[in-house]
Amino acid sequence: MANSAVPEQKPDRETPKFSNEAKKKFDELLTRYDSKRSALLPVLHLAQDEFGSLSDSVVEYVAELMDLSPAQVTEVVSFYHMYHRHPVGQHHLQFCMTLSCWMAGSHQLYKNTCSRLGIKPGEVTPDGKFSVAKVECLGSCGSAPIVQVNEAYYENLNPEKLNRLINSCKEGEPQTP
Ligand code: FES
Repeated sequence: MANSAVPEQKPDRETPKFSNEAKKKFDELLTRYDSKRSALLPVLHLAQDEFGSLSDSVVEYVAELMDLSPAQVTEVVSFYHMYHRHPVGQHHLQFCMTLSCWMAGSHQLYKNTCSRLGIKPGEVTPDGKFSVAKVECLGSCGSAPIVQVNEAYYENLNPEKLNRLINSCKEGEPQTP
């Protein structure tokens, strides 16, 4: 006999959903802001931590939660380099390509790294440890060239220092070279 109490389910197998713990954090975040929209940046961080990246389906999920359109959320996600549209490695290396860093050799450092790790932007090394990206000015132009690894900056780099930095990542945690 059919159970009329079964709730209607959307047949979208890709639809992400916060875990209970993440949902609790989401509810708590909303209490800190006057409007839902103001909580968008931390909610995006939460979603990225929860789902690994902000794919189209995650963006749609966040948009629904925040009473925004997917286009509005996508606009914010695309603006900030700390949000990732694709899965990234355990150590996400972001190379600043703006003028001061470029002139100090960031492009060559980036090329060397892609070649050493055998990846290009949007790819992750087979062991899941590394991914790379080119980004715009990180706001520390006086210490060019800069690489950001996850949340931390590594400044005044040269090929040798960068190699040591990557070696330390391979061994566990990035160390200032
Ligand atoms: S140009 Fe690279 S930090 Fe500003």
